[in-house]
Amino acid sequence: MGSRQRRALPALLGIAALLRWHTRQEDAFVAQRQQSSAKQALGPQFAEMTALTEMEAEAQTRRKMLIGLANLATVGASERAFAADSKTVLVAGATGQTGRRIVEKLSKMADVSVVGGVRDTAKAEKELSKSSIAIRGAMIDEVKAVDTKGVALKPLDVTKDSVDKLSQTLTGCNALIIATGFVPSNPFAMGADAHAVDNLGTKALVDAAKKSGVTKVVLVSSILTNARAWGQENSPGFQVTNAFGNVLDEKLEAENYLRASGIDYTIVRPGGLKSTAPETNLLVSKEDTLNSGEVSRDLVADVSIAAVFDGKASNKVVEIIEDDKVKRALAVQALLLIVLAFRPWAFASGRRGVLARLVPPALAAEASRSDGFSYTMLSPGSEGTTPRDGPVRAYAKVWLRFTGHVDGFDGPVFDSSALRGARRPVKKDYVEIECNTDDTFAAGMWEALRLMKVGEKGRFVQPPALSFGEGKASFQGDEDSDVKTVPAGTTLYYDVELVKIIRP
Ligand SMILES: NC(=O)c1ccc[n+]([C@@H]2O[C@H](COP(=O)([O-])OP(=O)(O)OC[C@H]3O[C@@H](n4cnc5c(N)ncnc54)[C@H](OP(=O)(O)O)[C@@H]3O)[C@@H](O)[C@H]2O)c1
Repeated sequence: MGSRQRRALPALLGIAALLRWHTRQEDAFVAQRQQSSAKQALGPQFAEMTALTEMEAEAQTRRKMLIGLANLATVGASERAFAADSKTVLVAGATGQTGRRIVEKLSKMADVSVVGGVRDTAKAEKELSKSSIAIRGAMIDEVKAVDTKGVALKPLDVTKDSVDKLSQTLTGCNALIIATGFVPSNPFAMGADAHAVDNLGTKALVDAAKKSGVTKVVLVSSILTNARAWGQENSPGFQVTNAFGNVLDEKLEAENYLRASGIDYTIVRPGGLKSTAPETNLLVSKEDTLNSGEVSRDLVADVSIAAVFDGKASNKVVEIIEDDKVKRALAVQALLLIVLAFRPWAFASGRRGVLARLVPPALAAEASRSDGFSYTMLSPGSEGTTPRDGPVRAYAKVWLRFTGHVDGFDGPVFDSSALRGARRPVKKDYVEIECNTDDTFAAGMWEALRLMKVGEKGRFVQPPALSFGEGKASFQGDEDSDVKTVPAGTTLYYDVELVKIIRP
């Protein structure tokens, strides 16, 4: 294969690599600035956030805004901003990963009394005072100990307590933050559990809040609760999350109930929750705009607390994730690592194939992105962890078997390692390439290799934007292929096998 367009690729790739590096440097700089500016007050900054949210409400279509973490300083340092605003805040779900962060941050604020609503006070006291770092699949859960001395723990069970009982628990509180969520245990009862906790349980809390004179309710919900209303019901985020007991549908009902309740509310809809510290900027968007992304629970806690104290958050829905251009590809990688970690039982077809039952087959082993790139692992590779086991780094030298098709994975072949090898005396069934510089491949291949381990077989879809010359011009197929010219704007389909990393 060789065309004029592809000859220009090394230069383009060089520029792309430089831009990517620059973005990383910027991210590192922002993170540094965030740490050093933690002494700023929270109030005015949330005002800025909500003002921007209002601006967004006026925008016709999806528009996002970036708020640096510097604009949402740590709550502990912002106590002066609330000195005149004495409040008692009850956190429902105080033992949860988000709830405990909210409790911890609130407990450091002057003039704020904190009540932790928990199912079992004795157990909660013990659990909250523990710190831990646990590795769950590909996720790292960092849990800090919470000093419960200043926190009043009260029994609260949203499925067992009557509205009257919940109302008694809430008596004397000005604000309620709902951070409850059903905890998946029995895969066959997830629908019932999600309905009981995330729908009826939240509604009961709203009724109780009204009854007891609570004036502000902040609900930690989720992005994509209203996915069906804006054409996102087939999005991977909705499909995968809602497969857990229709939890997003249940949450939406509770959200709507809160909105109609007449109580001042803020609904905080986070993306996928991380238990690690924030890594990039907070991105706040208006409702029904975000369909993917992750966010640190620390940030969810900051935004939820800010919503209690700032009138500008009144009766608003905000969707939050960490802005993450660079890490979008890594998120795909993390998903694949989870897939790998759960194999083979997760996708087995028998009784133990939990994910096989819950996740639609098309989504199960596939990681796809909004730009049209998707990678599907067909068989796993090395389980080793050395650089030579992969995943492949930029500029690594690798041996690769591949077949490139047009019109789908069964479509005509326009290029392959076998076609190229047939003209060589050696390396007949694979090619040796340097990643990110070899101009016979385009960006989609480098994205795929970043996900692959040695020995792994997979296939990926390369949308025109990640193809040769960004798909803006036609190019020639391999001289011995049946496809002489591939038109501009063609989506390409590659089968790949990472044979070896010869220089990591
Ligand atoms: N995980 C995600 O990626 C994600 C993404 C977006 C939104 N969300 C939502 O964000 C919220 C917080 O998530 P999280 O992962 O931090 O939560 P979590 O760690 O799973 O904690 C859930 C909390 O809810 C409590 N809870 C469960 N059933 C209850 C009941 N019947 N009565 C009272 N409390 C009950 C649990 O109490 P116990 O300690 O007693 O079990 C726990 O404190 C949830 O609503 C979740 O659905 C999660």
